[in-house]
Amino acid sequence: MYASLKSIGAYAPSHILSNADLEKMVETTDEWIEKRTGIKERRIAADDESTSDLGVKAALLAISRAGLAKEEIDLIICATLSPDHFCMPSTACVIAGKLGINDVMAFDISAACSGFVYMLSMAKAFIESGMKKNILIIGAEKISSIIDYTDRSTCILFGDGAGAAIIGATDTKNEAILDIHASADGRYGDLLITPGCGSKFPCSQETLDNKLNYIKMQGNEVYKVAVKTLTNDVIDILEKNNIDASQIDHFIPHQANFRIIEAVRAKLNFPIEKTVLTVAKYGNTSAASIPMAMNDAYEEGRIKKGDLMLLDTFGGGFTWASALVRFGGH
Ligand code: UT7
Repeated sequence: MYASLKSIGAYAPSHILSNADLEKMVETTDEWIEKRTGIKERRIAADDESTSDLGVKAALLAISRAGLAKEEIDLIICATLSPDHFCMPSTACVIAGKLGINDVMAFDISAACSGFVYMLSMAKAFIESGMKKNILIIGAEKISSIIDYTDRSTCILFGDGAGAAIIGATDTKNEAILDIHASADGRYGDLLITPGCGSKFPCSQETLDNKLNYIKMQGNEVYKVAVKTLTNDVIDILEKNNIDASQIDHFIPHQANFRIIEAVRAKLNFPIEKTVLTVAKYGNTSAASIPMAMNDAYEEGRIKKGDLMLLDTFGGGFTWASALVRFGGH
């Protein structure tokens, strides 16, 4: 028995924050943002929309595309760095409640932008061990809630959104999640961090005055490690599985920066037509980035049953992960 990605769904809030809008908020230009990141616009959730609301919309699409009844789901995992609530309840529990799935194992994971591929790895283990049958994984982010819109080094990069998938079982290797490599190196934690409102600097007026509740990033340092790690990770997983880059149907990388994606793509010689790119329209949506990109390609009719997808991601922690996945949906 193999684990299989049976369906994909996503949701992007309707409000668009363009580079031109950001020009009015911080000292930046559309030209700088596009040249350095490839981002043209990003989506921002409404004030009354929280991370779980975005996740529910993506989840409903993934559940219906898998042809499942909600009651058949026996595990819900949510990856997010912008949960509805600090500490508890988990966003997975909030989503379960909103979906009306009331007796199910549900929990969040914290792996920043690598969250979706980390969840894929956990879901694969739960399915292959026979412990669970139909797993809903959701990457959902209202990152705008932890962004300082006076800090031009971060506010231009991130956007809100959600992506979800159903992982089930198959006896066909041609529809299976073939391999996943996920890893972390905590020595780099300070380079990409929300320093405050945890146990180290509990929420206080001082924490808020010092803006420690927002994402802080040393972008250039992150960039260098990201390019090297993402490239090596892809080379390793392809070699380990005896797969040539030319056999990949869809390269779906984390959408943080077009220049990072381009560096990895060029090194591996993936044709641009096989590379899924959504960074221009959504920016970096962290744990939602890969499933939102996969969903766009799916809705464009590019991804078919049995197609071989290569996922590659990198994020705060530092965490990183890559996966070889044959699409198991319709
Ligand atoms: O998803 C998790 C992983 N995250 C990432 O992978 C992000 C990785 N990092 C990046 O994508 C890039 O480092 C950035 C897009 C964040 C920055 O691009 P960069 O080419 O590394 O620029 P930089 O930080 O080296 O800054 C170059 C210059 C600086 O000015 P000086 O010191 O050369 O005068 C910055 O102050 O650009 C300036 N700058 C800006 N200028 C206009 C920084 N942000 C902006 C801005 N608009 N928004």
